[in-house]
Amino acid sequence: MGNTVIAGTGSFLPPFVLNNHDLEMMVDTSDEWIITRTGIQERRICPKGKATSDMRVEAAKSACKDAGISPEEIDFIICATISPDKFFPSTACIIQAKLGLKNIPAFDISAACSGFIFGLEIAQRLMTEGRYKTGLVIASECMSRLADYTDRSTCVLLGDGAGAVVIKASDEEGLMGSYISSDGSYEDILNAPAGGSANPSSFDTVEKRMHFMKMEGAVLFKIAIQTMCESINTLLKMFNLKKEDIALVVPHQANLRIIKGVAKGMDMPSEKFYVNIEKYGNMSAACVPVALDEASKKGLFRKGDLIITVSFGGGLTWGANLIKWTK
Ligand code: UT7
Repeated sequence: MGNTVIAGTGSFLPPFVLNNHDLEMMVDTSDEWIITRTGIQERRICPKGKATSDMRVEAAKSACKDAGISPEEIDFIICATISPDKFFPSTACIIQAKLGLKNIPAFDISAACSGFIFGLEIAQRLMTEGRYKTGLVIASECMSRLADYTDRSTCVLLGDGAGAVVIKASDEEGLMGSYISSDGSYEDILNAPAGGSANPSSFDTVEKRMHFMKMEGAVLFKIAIQTMCESINTLLKMFNLKKEDIALVVPHQANLRIIKGVAKGMDMPSEKFYVNIEKYGNMSAACVPVALDEASKKGLFRKGDLIITVSFGGGLTWGANLIKWTK
């Protein structure tokens, strides 16, 4: 023991599809602009009456099934989200109850689009300590609830979904390590200004649409490419690897042009970067685990493959995980 492996992956995408033509009826945009500038064709929307935790439970069950375990075997739950069911209690605790689990630690982490990457790092550290044998790391987002459907510069990008992994203590080397980082001086370029203690909810904050996501897209675009390249390069250096050693990179899906920019910046073939942005758009923290599950189910990973997951997002936060595929 002493190592941690990914034993199972799962995901859940709500069935309702919002495509670019639907958005043409809502804001001044076009299918052509959205595809050319972002690569997105459609995204999923969580229905009214359902919340982030409902999608997570489905993703968690699917990951448990893939790992061949029952949820009762889970020793801790880490949830990454910026669209929690409520301020408190944590969405992780709500999921714990929905899975019928008791007396295990369950908590949320807030690292925006990098939440899953941060979550895997924390989970691996918890496992290394030896007390826990099986963990659940989930990322789920209802970004449609944070989207301002009068703001064409952001609403066309966002979608809803959930992804999860079951990790297990093992003799085999699987989750090898992570690099995570942040820079809080960029707080204002990607945020939801109201609803917290700085700007509590009021008629004024609602009227000014301050509860929705605000973003300086063009500034972020450059930082995204730079920080994702930095994350991959740092991991390669940490583990004394060459980029040719990596079988597949599973990146955050914010913009197809960003993913291509990272491939170019790394001087790696773009085919080595898994892309599904056309179907789901930007689901914040959920992008990476959903893509990981999809690539796994498509049989794109072989035992022993080295995979890098990489992301960046609000905070700003960024980072990457190095995974040896053991399934
Ligand atoms: O998950 C992490 C956080 N997200 C990101 O990191 C996103 C990073 N940024 C981006 O992906 C891109 O900056 C965007 C997709 C957000 C925007 O693409 P862009 O190529 O940087 O466009 P822009 O903001 O420079 O805007 C170009 C033009 C503007 O018109 P003018 O001023 O040139 O006349 C915008 O008003 O495109 C216009 N525009 C649109 N037009 C049609 C902006 N949004 C739209 C739209 N439909 N939806």
